[in-house]
Amino acid sequence: MKYIKLRDLEVSRIGLGAMGMSTAYTGSGTDDAESIRTVHRALELGVTLIDTAEIYGPYTNEELLGRALKGRRDQVVLATKFGMVSHAGDGPGNLDSSPANIRTAVEGSLKRLGTDHIDLYYQHRVDPKTPIEETVGALAELVAQGKVRAIGLSEAGPDTIRRAHAVHPVTAVQSEYSLWTRGLEQRVLPVLRELNIGLVPFSPLGRGLLTGRIRSTDELAADDFRRSNPRFAGENFDHNLALADQVQALAAEIGATPAQVALAWVLAQGDDLAPIPGTKRVQRVEENTAADALRLTDDQIARLSSLPQAAGDTHNEAQMRMMER
Ligand SMILES: NC(=O)c1ccc[n+]([C@@H]2O[C@H](COP(=O)([O-])OP(=O)(O)OC[C@H]3O[C@@H](n4cnc5c(N)ncnc54)[C@H](OP(=O)(O)O)[C@@H]3O)[C@@H](O)[C@H]2O)c1
Repeated sequence: MKYIKLRDLEVSRIGLGAMGMSTAYTGSGTDDAESIRTVHRALELGVTLIDTAEIYGPYTNEELLGRALKGRRDQVVLATKFGMVSHAGDGPGNLDSSPANIRTAVEGSLKRLGTDHIDLYYQHRVDPKTPIEETVGALAELVAQGKVRAIGLSEAGPDTIRRAHAVHPVTAVQSEYSLWTRGLEQRVLPVLRELNIGLVPFSPLGRGLLTGRIRSTDELAADDFRRSNPRFAGENFDHNLALADQVQALAAEIGATPAQVALAWVLAQGDDLAPIPGTKRVQRVEENTAADALRLTDDQIARLSSLPQAAGDTHNEAQMRMMER
């Protein structure tokens, strides 16, 4: 496994997203033992960057990681997020990045994760009610207290990134980025590079669709998040499946899997980014991590880059309103 730096934080250049172990996707929360084995296998394979959030569950995903990382904490660059649970207000699903809420949230995350520090603490979504300077001021205090090593933002736009970075260095921005979700390239990526901020691409496998394994939304459980996601709806799904088939065709030509090709394309975009593919299965973490060794040729990268973008927004309307771009 190769390692890169998100600003001055060294991480494996392929991380592990833990969200789907506890929420959002088919089968989440059904097999914690396999999820814990998956985390352990990832560490054996050299993965260090592990990603969770307070809202995943809520809370159960951090608790699961707390159990999985017992005795292994020092092998991990542990990342979690705050700001989508309002502790003094309306609870989960409500944006709150006020300093008071952050001070409450961090204590809960530390306790559930069984640690005395978080390596990378992200604001999950920009909170329109709290100036980013106040949020980052509170985070800087947590850094000074040793509870947090580095800070990040998620789905933040260029202005917010600049304003945040002026208060305290931002180590990474975590946003959706993959071969068919490239909106960041116009406005956000140039700012990240100018300010030497790392990028952590989430959903690098197109929430599973780019792997070619999902052939119909009927395969998804009734409560699977993707059932309400525009990319999995009607004609969008058909369009996106046809794109996934093209990724699969290239993968077959070079003896790789579609997931590995999708990850290798992301890795080819720079040494300042570390995708966090999500899986709750040992076999898939082995498959995904092996993408570290896959080198695409310039022609193959160009072929993938010329595919159309996915049809449909990345999130439903209510969730899109929480995103800055
Ligand atoms: N900041 C944010 O707002 C935000 C939003 C979304 C996600 N995230 C983070 O990013 C991480 C990754 O994103 P994601 O989980 O949404 O999407 P993803 O990594 O694009 O895809 C995950 C899905 O693909 C499946 N999968 C994984 N490897 C596979 C393989 N080799 N072959 C076939 N299927 C495979 C997983 O199923 P199995 O688990 O069954 O293998 C899961 O359903 C999350 O875990 C989370 O930590 C952050």
